[in-house]
Amino acid sequence: MKEILLHIGQLVVGPRQPQGLVRGSAQREVETVADAWLAISEGRIEAWGHMADLPSDRFAAYRPTDATGRVVLPGFVDSHTHLIFGRTREEEFVRRLRGETYEQIAAAGGGILNSARHLADLSEDELLAGALARVAEITATGTTCFEVKTGYGLLPEQELKLLRVAHRLRAAVPHRVRITLLAAHALPADYRNRRDEFLDRVCGELVPAAAQIGADYIDVFCETGFFTPEETERILRCGADYGLSGRVHANELDFSGGVEVGVRCGARSVDHLECVGEAQIAALLDSETIPTVLPGTALFLGLPYAPARRMIDSGLGVALASDYNPGTCPTGNMGLVWALACVGLRLLPEEALVAATANGAAALDWADELGRLQPGFRADLLLTQPIASFYRIPYSFGTNLIDRVMIGGQWWNGK
Ligand code: NIG
Ligand code: FE
Repeated sequence: MKEILLHIGQLVVGPRQPQGLVRGSAQREVETVADAWLAISEGRIEAWGHMADLPSDRFAAYRPTDATGRVVLPGFVDSHTHLIFGRTREEEFVRRLRGETYEQIAAAGGGILNSARHLADLSEDELLAGALARVAEITATGTTCFEVKTGYGLLPEQELKLLRVAHRLRAAVPHRVRITLLAAHALPADYRNRRDEFLDRVCGELVPAAAQIGADYIDVFCETGFFTPEETERILRCGADYGLSGRVHANELDFSGGVEVGVRCGARSVDHLECVGEAQIAALLDSETIPTVLPGTALFLGLPYAPARRMIDSGLGVALASDYNPGTCPTGNMGLVWALACVGLRLLPEEALVAATANGAAALDWADELGRLQPGFRADLLLTQPIASFYRIPYSFGTNLIDRVMIGGQWWNGK
């Protein structure tokens, strides 16, 4: 079906920089057009322009949608989620409110281990049903492409179950989906005194089997109390041997060395980054690794926010993602994450928009076709409620202003 959006109040085309990761001061340069049209064919953006210049006959056969007084913008690319999980963990939220820390709860067998215990009894069908419901939820708030991690299985047999669910999820939705094997998320309880044995199983058993099923990336939670930089390096290098590029959960709770090991191993991204200083910024500037910030997690855990302002001012290109997971960020609402990026990270709305679209796409190796509404890019876009400009989205935090969502040229029907 060929479509044309007409009389768009504000068309947000994307960053002025036409392709690739957008860095430093370029991250605030966004191209917008008032009173615009946008044509879509074969699931791709065909062309856009001012209404005054609309060719009179060219689009006569296209299905029209009136977008008067509305904003059209690229769909959100959420490059970091854990949306395959068993049940929610609100009891731990309350324990934290009563004074325990995330690390204390984790050390006492809660946290990731809690999720893993519960998930072990769930079937693939049950896990898929939960994940599909979460995809519907995040699509309603504008996510059109996402990354999904395994990681709550911990043991190879359970992790492979999650990987199969991730593939079934990808096959079931129109979204572009990247799959990450989160090979080392927490040490399973049974391996408390057998760390090396666990790592041997990850590298000797899990990674080869996962590579056969297929995955795009490999990830490690490199953090005090979880996995060391040396262990992280071993797993990332093992993944690389099987063709998986790296991602790292880095510097969330501490100066963990995660950024440095990610850069050293050529990881695609290092994510979280609450505990980052000049040395880590310098290491990132000297690399192709994309810093990805997750302010929903900082809010929910009461952590200091990542120094994203300083990163961009230093010339880095930053990506913004949700970290949707049951322990540290139980939302995948990217409009809300956008607001947190403005208020908590002190980014301009333009910078956060680029971080959540074009730079998220770059972090998923899709910079050439996602995250912008330029001709040839995939028609993944959002049509808002009547609002004057995209500034209203982070401003009205907590209100979902997304009215309709197009994915690959098709309007999402809410299922
Ligand atoms: O990205 N940091 C590690 N993993 C997840 C959440 C872990 C959890 O379930 O508590 C995160 O925050
Ligand atoms: Fe995460």
